[in-house]
Amino acid sequence: MSGGAGGDGDVKPLDPTAVASVVFYGLAADSLLHRAAGEAVVYSQLYPFAGLRNYTSGIIHHVRLQGLEPGTEYFYQCGDPGIPAAMSEVYAFRTMPAVGPGSYPARIAVVGDLGLTYNTTSTVEHMVSNQPDLVLLVGDVSYANLYLTNGTGTDCYSCSFAKSTPIHETYQPRWDYWGRYMEPVTSRIPMMVVEGNHEIEEQIDNKTFASYSSRFAFPSTESGSFSPFYYSFDAGGIHFIMLAAYTDYSKSGEQYKWLEKDLAKVNRSVTPWLIAGWHAPWYSTFKAHYREVECMRVAMEELLYSYAVDIVFTGHVHAYERSNRVFNYTLDQCGPVHISIGDGGNREKMATSYADEPGHCPDPMSTPDPFMGGEFCGFNFTSGPAAGKFCWDRQPDYSAYRESSFGHGILEVKNETHALWRWHRNQDMYGSVGDEIYILYSRRLLCWLPSVSFSRRRRRRPERRRWC
Ligand SMILES: [Fe+2]
Repeated sequence: MSGGAGGDGDVKPLDPTAVASVVFYGLAADSLLHRAAGEAVVYSQLYPFAGLRNYTSGIIHHVRLQGLEPGTEYFYQCGDPGIPAAMSEVYAFRTMPAVGPGSYPARIAVVGDLGLTYNTTSTVEHMVSNQPDLVLLVGDVSYANLYLTNGTGTDCYSCSFAKSTPIHETYQPRWDYWGRYMEPVTSRIPMMVVEGNHEIEEQIDNKTFASYSSRFAFPSTESGSFSPFYYSFDAGGIHFIMLAAYTDYSKSGEQYKWLEKDLAKVNRSVTPWLIAGWHAPWYSTFKAHYREVECMRVAMEELLYSYAVDIVFTGHVHAYERSNRVFNYTLDQCGPVHISIGDGGNREKMATSYADEPGHCPDPMSTPDPFMGGEFCGFNFTSGPAAGKFCWDRQPDYSAYRESSFGHGILEVKNETHALWRWHRNQDMYGSVGDEIYILYSRRLLCWLPSVSFSRRRRRRPERRRWC
């Protein structure tokens, strides 16, 4: 629950202890026999510059319900029972199926770069019509940072925003609008979020991600990451890993060390499917953001590959693209399928140009994201059809399908060996499919050597790749 509390100049944060954080829940709407209490937080977004409006949030409540049965519908009501009329109406949600190879969420919706536009509402309406059990949102949520602090939106931020102002403005009430709009979805369907670049939201004292970190809850402690930016969780026979593209991902960093530990703990006989998600794609062939996160790919791809990750979901590029199984830009049956689905409805432009079109290959030095450490890793290809070049001169063979349309995806993991992926476009009728593929488990046993240590697996890769 959240509410707006913005103002000019100095703003006084609300007292988060002034209101209790309570949830009553149970197996029937008229029998909410259980009670759980949580904690409340507030955050502020402060700009110490003349003419900019500061913001402090409403009280945001987090309550953790424990001991729930898997695959069960629960009814709940939240608020402060000590304050008249401060309890919500009764909502209901269904928990994920039990962890194990024989049960899966029926439909997992995947969306990216959602925003709050007419395209967003179309995406969400189409998504709800597919009745998902779980929603993955792979970053770029409210786009509050495309507004000035007075609430004025701009299609050209750099044109409207004073270049001398040292911090990019945001209009934080957009987060409140987004939360209210999404409430019919998020109040009844579990949603897991990972951060995008639009969640960075710099402010005073070099603070970042204040809204993102305060408004969502993450299983960080449960998965041992202790970070809101990367974490893992199980849903039925799927182990999900959500990674941070805008936090240190180097091999000597905390995220990489955590990822090594998390992958080593995955038992594929319990969770046969291993799915990763983060914001900026490694394998997009659109001109926009082309090879922008090469340093992250260079740092982490081999580790994910060595554990035979099945699918990678990303966003950031405002279009849809599905890869063939790929590793290090080479077709490889042991590599994951990369699906970039940043076409949720953002208020920026749709990506329409491909880097392989004549005249559209970007200058390599212009491609690194400044929020990713200022490193440069996007060197020319050294082998294959694009050897010696930064871009291919035709659609790369690792790009299976690409299209500039708004939409969302639905993943149906059927069993241990088959998962059906469908991409739904907003311009189509509900239920129509724009792209569809079965992703198979069958080669995983050849690609995954669970009894061999990571260092030994790396040494054995040539043998494994021969099998594939
Ligand atoms: Fe993005």
